[in-house]
Amino acid sequence: MKIKDYVIDQNYEGYLAEDHHTWALLYKRQEELHNKLVCKEYLDGFTKLELSKTKIERIEDVSDRLKNISGWTLLPVSGLLPPIDFFEMLTQKIYPVTAAIRKPFEIDFSEQPDIFHDVCGHLPLLTNEKFVEFLTVFSSIATKYIENEEAMVLLSRIYWFTYETGLINEDGVFKFYGGAVITSAEEMVKVNDPNTPKYPFDIDHIFKTTFNSFELQNEYFVINSFDDLFNCLIDLEEKLTNNTSSLISSL
Ligand SMILES: [Fe+2]
Repeated sequence: MKIKDYVIDQNYEGYLAEDHHTWALLYKRQEELHNKLVCKEYLDGFTKLELSKTKIERIEDVSDRLKNISGWTLLPVSGLLPPIDFFEMLTQKIYPVTAAIRKPFEIDFSEQPDIFHDVCGHLPLLTNEKFVEFLTVFSSIATKYIENEEAMVLLSRIYWFTYETGLINEDGVFKFYGGAVITSAEEMVKVNDPNTPKYPFDIDHIFKTTFNSFELQNEYFVINSFDDLFNCLIDLEEKLTNNTSSLISSL
């Protein structure tokens, strides 16, 4: 399996004081924004993980804590993995964590995932059973369609507008659960702007919505609960099986 090509040693001693400072700064800002803007399931997971406020986490230590909570194991990696390797890992409850941390000029928005994004953005929801059910079944669908280019475009849109930039309606208030939004102070402010379009979660609408992961998004999609994500999966696979080309008309 190619997975081992991307797995690296975290080289914890290689982080500079400046890197730990970046972590501490991001953590502090995030904590201030989170209580108001982030969904309760994420906050519960964040509390359970007991992440360090001042120093970059050792991936091995967080992996031990997460394994005890929900059975997931973490592996340090050099960066983004090819989709097949990424989704295969997820089906096995293995989560790749980028070992590098962003540079100080990327504090507000980092184009590439880094350890802060992966740990603080994504791990808290890996403690939530319903969200994990969605993610693992979604990943297993993705591995089935990995050779189908059109299906993968559609799946990447669902993934992006849920896992990375998804919003949830919590007692009539929009809260964030997407990891990219949660770890970008700039994007949290943008989403909170009443002029930013927020649409009800709808897979046909998302299928026709393009995205650019290197920029802030122009629109967002809102679920009512994590059941919406899990419940869409049968419908999602049916649509992929039937005819992907008719669904992808905006390409
Ligand atoms: Fe991410």
